[in-house]
Amino acid sequence: MSSEPAGGMRQTLASERTTILVTGGAGFIGSNFIRYILTATEYRGSIVNFDKLTYAGNLASLEDIDRTLGRERYFFERGDICDPRRVEDVIGKYSVPIIVHFAAESHVDRSIHGPADFIETNINGTFRLLEAARSAWQGRQDVRFHHVSTDEVYGSLGETGAFLETTPYDPRSPYSATKAASDHLVRAYFHTYGLPVTLSNCSNNYGPYQFPEKLIPLVVLNALEGKALPVYGDGMNVRDWLHVDDHGEAVWQILHKGAAGETYNIGGECEKRNIEVVRDICAILEELAPAAENPCVKDRAGVSRYEDLITFVGDRPGHDRRYAINCDKIKRELGWRQRYDFSGGLRATISWYLRNAAWVESVRSGDYQKWIDRNYAGRNS
Ligand code: NAD
Ligand code: DAU
Repeated sequence: MSSEPAGGMRQTLASERTTILVTGGAGFIGSNFIRYILTATEYRGSIVNFDKLTYAGNLASLEDIDRTLGRERYFFERGDICDPRRVEDVIGKYSVPIIVHFAAESHVDRSIHGPADFIETNINGTFRLLEAARSAWQGRQDVRFHHVSTDEVYGSLGETGAFLETTPYDPRSPYSATKAASDHLVRAYFHTYGLPVTLSNCSNNYGPYQFPEKLIPLVVLNALEGKALPVYGDGMNVRDWLHVDDHGEAVWQILHKGAAGETYNIGGECEKRNIEVVRDICAILEELAPAAENPCVKDRAGVSRYEDLITFVGDRPGHDRRYAINCDKIKRELGWRQRYDFSGGLRATISWYLRNAAWVESVRSGDYQKWIDRNYAGRNS
């Protein structure tokens, strides 16, 4: 099947009445995407955030959007993508022509300790969502299913080279294996049923509202609390870092200009060894919140700087050594560019965490669940 021109999608996105269904919109990237679309683009339609609210989903991350645009251009529907009836109801209720699918179990370490939820949400959930879209859209071509995936499906690189869209899949963790399976399903629905899909495979994101189990927020918060900064293995594994708003903009460009059936790699072109990232964080923290003035740190024996908290720990099983993304295609074909440089983006992210201790506290303590119950009781159908 050949790629479809994107004119229909541009027209749909220009329509005032368009609704975009975002799955996983209460998570890190989904919530930043919703804020970006509603506040930083020309889009005047509405967004429905469909999220199960697992430990990783926090409506506190969209409290500002809900306060200003709630029930006018922003709607929240709690639900599980594995529940076909709930998904179909929401697609029907809002006559959704565009789905942007972020919802997933996303943390590699959790997938190693317990892969079952990953199989369920990432594979079965994506399958249910595809089925619901196929049944609701009935062969329409002025619609779009965008699937958000990861560079991890391509496996692990040696010292050189970068992943292309054509690199054969070689997933090596339960997480990446389930993402790879979901990518295959999405492509199968394009080829077999003509469902207008696009896919993106992105590198490591960083920015505000990231759950503090991932490297950057974990290190920032542990440092401020005077706890060990755990570096897996020799700390020489390489990740390619991209600011979350650059990811959001790339997805937005794909919705506007991407051709159905196509896959776009998205990356920061910013390779860093983990130990470098941890040291960069420590250096920025010394400027913004010096260890010498931090009561959690200064009284610890043998610790005078945040760097003293770095602790090498046992390696992650099957730890992928290096990721690097070649994102020439999206640059060339859609005109996307990264806007953030890593050092500026990292500094801004760290200062966001310093200013938003209440958000950190709420996502860690489970208080956000009480907030949801208070604010959303009876609001969903
Ligand atoms: P996240 O873990 O922060 O958020 C996931 C969201 O999905 C949460 O709000 C959660 O409640 C929701 N969710 C989970 N299971 C669900 C279900 N069954 N039904 C409905 N909602 C459910 O994840 P993230 O880091 O924001 O990642 C979002 C997407 O981007 C994922 O698909 C991930 O694979 C992909 N991705 C992430 C990165 C990264 O660096 N974080 C990089 C590339 C791609
Ligand atoms: O590459 C994209 C992927 O990036 C996404 O698909 C995943 O959803 C996202 O979680 C992320 O996966 P990583 O495993 O690369 O991210 P994480 O922040 O967990 O780890 C980044 C690197 O830091 C990795 O090499 C493991 C290492 N690490 C991580 C943690 C949590 C440590 O050394 N210490 C830690 O405590």
